[in-house]
Amino acid sequence: MKQDDLDFFKKWFSDYCKSFYSSDIEDQKNIHLKEQHTSDVRENIIRIADGLSLSNSMRILAEAIALFHDIGRFPQYAKYKTFRDSISVNHGLLGARILLEEKILQNLAESEQELIIQAVRLHNAFAVPKLEKKDIVFFIKLVRDADKLDIWRIFIEYYEGPRQDTASAIGLGLPDIPEYSGDVLSCLYRKEVASLSKIKTFNDFKLLQLSWIYDLNFKPSFRLLSERDYIDRTISKLPQTEEILNASLSLKEFVRRRI
Ligand SMILES: [Fe+2]
Repeated sequence: MKQDDLDFFKKWFSDYCKSFYSSDIEDQKNIHLKEQHTSDVRENIIRIADGLSLSNSMRILAEAIALFHDIGRFPQYAKYKTFRDSISVNHGLLGARILLEEKILQNLAESEQELIIQAVRLHNAFAVPKLEKKDIVFFIKLVRDADKLDIWRIFIEYYEGPRQDTASAIGLGLPDIPEYSGDVLSCLYRKEVASLSKIKTFNDFKLLQLSWIYDLNFKPSFRLLSERDYIDRTISKLPQTEEILNASLSLKEFVRRRI
């Protein structure tokens, strides 16, 4: 894959996004959110790739995967008006299907087509899948890290900013009450990623997002997490109980060891 291919994909993607633009302000905000997210995930993946000193051809492939990773979000929102896969459709699977149906990748080598399609299909799996092809697993890890780093940004801006400016589909419909579940917090202590099925309150969701730190793969990703102060900024939006502050200390220690 060459820079020319990537330039073609960028133009294609931009036109694809535009085809979902809406005159409804709320819908447009939600579509814009995903277009901006894609652009930021691309920037993140470039920073991680550079931090890992990847070759130029791997960097271009990584950027293409970031560009397409959430392509399923656009038809998902158009049809269901939500980004919640559990009540609509798996957006990774849908994205892979679109890439095939639209034949966007057809000029690439078959191995590259497979790599991009698999990375898009599996970027949102609960855990990194065990596949035989190690190069595919590597790129899945890259895009998962770049994606998480931007999802942290989106939610922290949501916690910190004025609510009226935010895209409505961020809210998830969870009760924003002081309670949190011990069950979710205990995942942080066990260094496990919490499952979305355990989430009952918005605070649980913040804890779940912190648990993603245990699923980060690369040193440059831990550096970006730390530079952007995502742990403290999330913790400051949770009840300041002793058990939460302790969890924050062990998270920070975990990150410090990986930088
Ligand atoms: Fe996604």
